[in-house]
Amino acid sequence: MAAFHLFKLSILLVSLFSASTLTANKGGAGAGGVGVFPPTCDRIECPTYDVIHAGTDFEIRRYNSSMWISTQPIDDISLVDAGKIAFFQLFDYIQGKNDNNEKIEMTAPVISEVKPSDGPFCASSFVVSFFVPTKNQATAPSAKGLNLQKWGLTYVAVRQFSGFAMDDDVGQQAAALYSSIEGTVWSEAIDKSHSAKDSAEYIVAQYNSPFEFKNRVNEIWLTFDMEATFLAAAAV
Ligand SMILES: *[C@@H]1O[C@H](CO)[C@@H](O)[C@H](O)[C@H]1NC(C)=O
Repeated sequence: MAAFHLFKLSILLVSLFSASTLTANKGGAGAGGVGVFPPTCDRIECPTYDVIHAGTDFEIRRYNSSMWISTQPIDDISLVDAGKIAFFQLFDYIQGKNDNNEKIEMTAPVISEVKPSDGPFCASSFVVSFFVPTKNQATAPSAKGLNLQKWGLTYVAVRQFSGFAMDDDVGQQAAALYSSIEGTVWSEAIDKSHSAKDSAEYIVAQYNSPFEFKNRVNEIWLTFDMEATFLAAAAV
């Protein structure tokens, strides 16, 4: 009997999964854009930002400041697998396994910084972070194995895509974002910020739990600093 239920459950999961991959793949990596407000952010806190440029398939946001609790770099060949490892560490943190034994409310998005790794087998290095709620930022607890990261004023070029963020398509979505900003006033600032040693290639921001299958929103972020000269050029 239990086996039968398990069988039914796996059929259900398989059909959910195929339905969502179908939606995700509609149009392949070409599908994507901006301007969707993640429904998750109506329910839980997300970092606020100003849109300083809205393009058709990318936008430039400015986050005034934000605080994140981050894992150590995780070497893996898979973003999805690194996310699973990170999930338990970040989940423990919000459940109160931190230096203040303080429970922390869930927020979105969870972001994964992707860096090429020096290790063998083409592994990448992933740092996965959770946005610390505004009310906790001044006194945010640390925790063993996790680091608090404070971001100052940060500019971000953003591309959105739906469905589940799979290893096969995040790279394509990041490439699509790079190609849509190419030749714009933003690309020089982005290249300059990304030339720094050890900077992340791109960030994958995910707004949904693995159990939600509708209205999923993911984003590729390219973070950069903006100098006054670039801002003046962009305003022309
Ligand atoms: C960011 O800071 C600017 C300047 O102080 C302010 O006008 C803007 O409303 C702030 N944006 C957010 C999202 O907090």
